[in-house]
Amino acid sequence: MGEIPCQRGPLLYPKADMKICCIGAGYVGGPTMAMIAHKCKDHTVTVVDINQDRIDAWNSDTLPVYEPGLDAIVAKARGENLFFSTDIDGAIRDADMIFLSVNTPTKTYGVGAGRAADLRYVEKCARKIAEVAEDDKIVVEKSTLPVRTAESVKRILETNSKGRQFQILSNPEFLAEGTAMADLEAPDRVLIGGDQSPEGKAAIQKLVDVYASWVPLDKILTTNLWSSELSKLTANAFLAQRISSINAISALCEATGANVDEVAHAIGTDSRIGPKFLKSSVGFGGSCFQKDILNLVYLCEHFGLPEVAAYWNSVIEMNDHQKHRFSRRVLASMFNTVSDKKIAILGFAFKKDTNDTRESAAIYICKDLLEEQADIAIYDPKVEPEQIQKDLGIDADHPSVTYCQDAYEATKDAHAVLILTEWDEFKTLDYEKIHAGMMLPAFLFDGRNILDLEALGKIGFEASGIGKG
Ligand code: UDX
Ligand code: UDX
Repeated sequence: MGEIPCQRGPLLYPKADMKICCIGAGYVGGPTMAMIAHKCKDHTVTVVDINQDRIDAWNSDTLPVYEPGLDAIVAKARGENLFFSTDIDGAIRDADMIFLSVNTPTKTYGVGAGRAADLRYVEKCARKIAEVAEDDKIVVEKSTLPVRTAESVKRILETNSKGRQFQILSNPEFLAEGTAMADLEAPDRVLIGGDQSPEGKAAIQKLVDVYASWVPLDKILTTNLWSSELSKLTANAFLAQRISSINAISALCEATGANVDEVAHAIGTDSRIGPKFLKSSVGFGGSCFQKDILNLVYLCEHFGLPEVAAYWNSVIEMNDHQKHRFSRRVLASMFNTVSDKKIAILGFAFKKDTNDTRESAAIYICKDLLEEQADIAIYDPKVEPEQIQKDLGIDADHPSVTYCQDAYEATKDAHAVLILTEWDEFKTLDYEKIHAGMMLPAFLFDGRNILDLEALGKIGFEASGIGKG
């Protein structure tokens, strides 16, 4: 696979100041570029986006992305060596290195609909670079892409090169939302894939130099392009597979009287398994896991590997099952009807410490409950009502959905409380007060296993968690 070892020790040549541009000011592009600007004061970093509102928000005191620690870093670097703009052409023209961090959603149309990645934004960016670049550029794929996408980007750039040299690198992002700044500051590894030609290696080295400003060299791995692209999909598939595996066991725990947290702890002490990513939940969400696995499945089918495709697809099937299983349990416990009953939803984001709701389990569970004609009262500390309306596909005045300022308002007169995101503040709520304000029997379904069910039982709740028989 042609692995290139990174240079050890001090850099062999002085670092030149670079102009870096990033197309796509989203959850990945924004925080990543803020960290690069923060750590590499000699480089100028410009983040561009077609969305004027998003850029305006990046230039305001209310950033479009909520990430602990992000505000402080942006406040320090913005206007110094970090800029946000909609002048995409200008930023491309000036840049030595261009990151592509545009979204690559699952295709909703045509061949591969529902599974393949929609690459139209990436292709548009490549064509834009070919159109406006006046000199040589290094183009870095940051968006998660199907394997061999770099090839397409390269072809588009090379066939339109007019004497300019374009080097394509793959530099997948491994940050997790909610801990993005910590992950960027101290990554487990940085992965850079590139051509094995002398020019390719020189381009790889330039990007290694950027990260080497703060990441130890032994954590900067370099590979060929395809290994880098596939590593990203594989990492996410393995992580998601662990969650689906423990969630599958949670169903068995409920049937047998075992406790999934105890099982997870017991198996996690085996150093070969390890304790991380074994938290059973109402189902994984986020912009990456499902999309990347669907992508992997599509690739396997494309390359004539149906068994491999089916294997990975089952990770998603188990996740879908877990989400709907939770809704069905709520319904069954509440005497098989939630019609006209108020149900408090605590948490709508796909995990704590983010305002991102993409593929959040809460979306599916709220839809299930609305189908059963429940009245739902939603509280999330960071998600705006407009986002919830978009996700549920409803108007602002939908009669069965209310948006609350806090957990106490949401739970007042409710028949049930559903914890769907593990926000820390839900652990320390005054559950006696909540119980006193609810209809009886007061049901509580902890979809994140963050609460002490025994203590809740003593207060009077009919409390249940995930995987607790
Ligand atoms: C995106 C991809 O979804 C993910 O696969 C990849 O790993 C990193 O980039 P994210 O940053 O979370 O993740 O996406 P999103 O928050 O949607 O941001 C993408 C931005 O690109 C948006 O602000 C969008 O306006 C912008 N964009 C999109 C462009 O500027 N130009 C385009 O042509 C398309
Ligand atoms: C993920 C990868 O972790 C990251 O490396 C990659 O770059 C992008 O995709 P992200 O989706 O931001 O990051 O968050 P992550 O912490 O992985 O959580 C994903 C989902 O899995 C969340 O809904 C979370 O609640 C759920 N989860 C996670 C569990 O249900 N149980 C666990 O043990 C861990």
